[in-house]
Amino acid sequence: MKAWQLKDFGLANLQLGEAVTPVPKAGELLVKVGAVSLNFRDKAILEGFYEPHLVPKDLIPVSDAAGTIVAVGEGVTRFSVGDRVNSHLYSRWLDGEPAHDEPAHCFGSPLPGGLAEYMIIHEDSAVGAPHNMTDEQASTLPIAALTAWYSLVDYGQLKLGQTVLVQGTGGVSIFAIQLAAAMGAKVIVTSSSDENLTRAMALGAQAGINYRKMPDWETEVLALTEGKGVDLLLDVAGGDGINQSIAATKAAGRIAQIGFLTGQSTNLSLMPLIFRQTTIRGIAVAPRSSFDRMNEFLNQHAISPVIDHIYPFEQAREAYEHLSNGAFGKVVISVAN
Ligand SMILES: NC(=O)c1ccc[n+]([C@@H]2O[C@H](COP(=O)([O-])OP(=O)(O)OC[C@H]3O[C@@H](n4cnc5c(N)ncnc54)[C@H](OP(=O)(O)O)[C@@H]3O)[C@@H](O)[C@H]2O)c1
Repeated sequence: MKAWQLKDFGLANLQLGEAVTPVPKAGELLVKVGAVSLNFRDKAILEGFYEPHLVPKDLIPVSDAAGTIVAVGEGVTRFSVGDRVNSHLYSRWLDGEPAHDEPAHCFGSPLPGGLAEYMIIHEDSAVGAPHNMTDEQASTLPIAALTAWYSLVDYGQLKLGQTVLVQGTGGVSIFAIQLAAAMGAKVIVTSSSDENLTRAMALGAQAGINYRKMPDWETEVLALTEGKGVDLLLDVAGGDGINQSIAATKAAGRIAQIGFLTGQSTNLSLMPLIFRQTTIRGIAVAPRSSFDRMNEFLNQHAISPVIDHIYPFEQAREAYEHLSNGAFGKVVISVAN
């Protein structure tokens, strides 16, 4: 099969070539990949700053895929040849609390990903792709949409009329705006770009703050929330910004610590955290059961993924460059078409 393989860290070492088409073992599905979408994780893996010691060489990268089952291993019962499925990042985390070793079973490192004509997905971790979405649309769901869903619903317990803050206009945050608005929550969004803020408000956000023009964006959040702060904050920026996130969240409010765009470590000021009694929870996407529940909600509310651009398979490197330069919503690579 044709496959992109990461031979070493760096975009120049992502090379298109031939690889052996995998054969499904007991319980596994062979999926003809229709499309994949890129996440910041894929860029971080490629550049060598995401758990580099776990990245095999060579690696077929990119975790998030949608495609059609073309063969099944012995004993498969959940799906049949011809069904359309999504990959699910934490392939062994099916329900409840995570086990200690979930990161060892993730697609796109250390398991082979979807940037190839075919990939193997265990039937237990596969999720039926929404019927009303193309493979390109469905490929955006496994990390970006599901992380937003889990943060808002399973962890965040977001209720009608509550206020949530999302940072930036990348993959996770745009889904968070769409989902939270559909739940009847008020969304405040931050962005480096006024144009992106306008587009985010058209998707359902009620207020926007340009964090470049207003580096003390947390004061603006307090002004928008009668001095109280938001009920829930989805932090994708990471780094020392966690102190601003605490300041922007109401007393006894929740922060979903999702990302590390500005840094993987932080100087945390403990006294504001203590006095505000904030709960900060690390988020690592979600179990598969949450994916199933999210798909029902997406269907009920007719939510369509926001795709910035779809690249052909041969232009995978350009897709990575696009993500690095900033995308509004998702960057997708069409594999089969
Ligand atoms: N833990 C998990 O389960 C999980 C799951 C998904 C993602 N993540 C992490 O979450 C982060 C976002 O992922 P993604 O895939 O959504 O990324 P992405 O699609 O590449 O989005 C990046 C966007 O974030 C915004 N941004 C950058 N720096 C910012 C800052 N200092 N403050 C506010 N916004 C900022 C920018 O939007 P503007 O151009 O509008 O400013 C940028 O376009 C990454 O660190 C990723 O690894 C974690």
